[in-house]
Amino acid sequence: MKKEKFSGGLGALLVLAGSAVGLGNIWRFPYMVAENGGGAFILIYILCMLLVSVPVLLSEIALGRHKGNMKFHGLVNLLFVLIPTITLSYYSVIGGWTLRYMVFGNSDFGSFVSSTGHPLACLAIFLGATALIVLLGVRSGLEKFSKIMMPALFLIMCALAVYSCCMGHGSSEGLRFLFRPDFSKVGPETFVKALGQAFFSLSIGMGIMVTFGSYIGKDENLLATAAKTSVADLVFALISACVVIPALFAFGMFFQDPLTGEVMANPEADVVGAGLIFKTLPAVFSQMPMGWLVSVFFFLAVTLAALSSSISLFEVPVAWLTEKFGISRSWACLAVFLFCYAVGALCSLSFGVLGGISFKGMNIFDMLDWTTANVLMPLAGLICVLYAAWGMKKTELRSELSNSGKLRGVDRLFPVLDLLIRYIAPAGVLAVALSGLIG
Ligand code: PHE
Repeated sequence: MKKEKFSGGLGALLVLAGSAVGLGNIWRFPYMVAENGGGAFILIYILCMLLVSVPVLLSEIALGRHKGNMKFHGLVNLLFVLIPTITLSYYSVIGGWTLRYMVFGNSDFGSFVSSTGHPLACLAIFLGATALIVLLGVRSGLEKFSKIMMPALFLIMCALAVYSCCMGHGSSEGLRFLFRPDFSKVGPETFVKALGQAFFSLSIGMGIMVTFGSYIGKDENLLATAAKTSVADLVFALISACVVIPALFAFGMFFQDPLTGEVMANPEADVVGAGLIFKTLPAVFSQMPMGWLVSVFFFLAVTLAALSSSISLFEVPVAWLTEKFGISRSWACLAVFLFCYAVGALCSLSFGVLGGISFKGMNIFDMLDWTTANVLMPLAGLICVLYAAWGMKKTELRSELSNSGKLRGVDRLFPVLDLLIRYIAPAGVLAVALSGLIG
């Protein structure tokens, strides 16, 4: 069976960017900027991207293209397949919630997630849509959908950002707060936080980008692809921050303490994670003029962002099943759908009837989330960079990055790239991995 490839540079870029742009950009990045010194955090984030995450992304896609498949040593392979599959299971639960909010608008979040039938139906629809797109194949599925979804997502987010910034009542104050650098909030831990976020946000360290690398044509410029993907992800994160923070300011969810002059989040409001998008923002939208329309578009955007990431997660086990066992794409999609639906259903029910099952105060959903984010992802991240950085000979890496010397500029840059890929990036990943395991 001949392996399907992306049709060209644009297709590859949009699929990679689609994977990168996701819930992480919308529900975590804005809060991290607000909490960690605004413009100062943004600068550190960009530095971490340049020094660590772009080199890791580059080495992953180079490794994927060089090998041409996902066949690693048994245990490594298992990790690379297991992590996206588990992540997909709980990511889809949230994808289902966003669908429901898009169609029905604001609901009582607590009673919705703790019910049984509705969240399970939403999960089935979201995961089913993901499976259908992946079933259509790399070009007619992932690529075609990314070509429609990503521009749509970009336009909607830009419109929402403009609306949010023109809200009055302090929204411009929020915007200024977002970008004003406050270096007093920066410490060594800020770097680890920025790196951790950059990892999750770029979907690196779990083998996804290795899979996608194997779909990239031999004459594409990998450095340009990695750089553009990172810029797209950063731009989306910044636009999301311009949607979220000014709106929160305008409706008093952030305020300036009159005594200390310090800006802080309203302690009663959730300003990060699921609480932000399913509780706080809907409450804010309901007070805005034309709030229902804003809400529809916002949840449409979140759903598109989640879907473009979930298809990339889904593709990995499908690619593995078809390559390793030679089964057809349809059977592989069905198997992955059933497995993820079963795990996802357990996660979904852990907010309701299965709420009794808990470990150290975490329900099933939180346990899976915690284990993948803090143990499996850093571990796989480390294996991934070591593999990518040291598993290929220096000459092979050089020829892969410069397309056998044809890309003169990249070839000349190689000593710098080599230093970043082999030494600086692994050190950065190690810092994230250790802090994840210890913290
Ligand atoms: N990068 C996605 C986000 O920001 C999440 C993701 C991680 C998707 C890993 C795929 C793989 O939400």
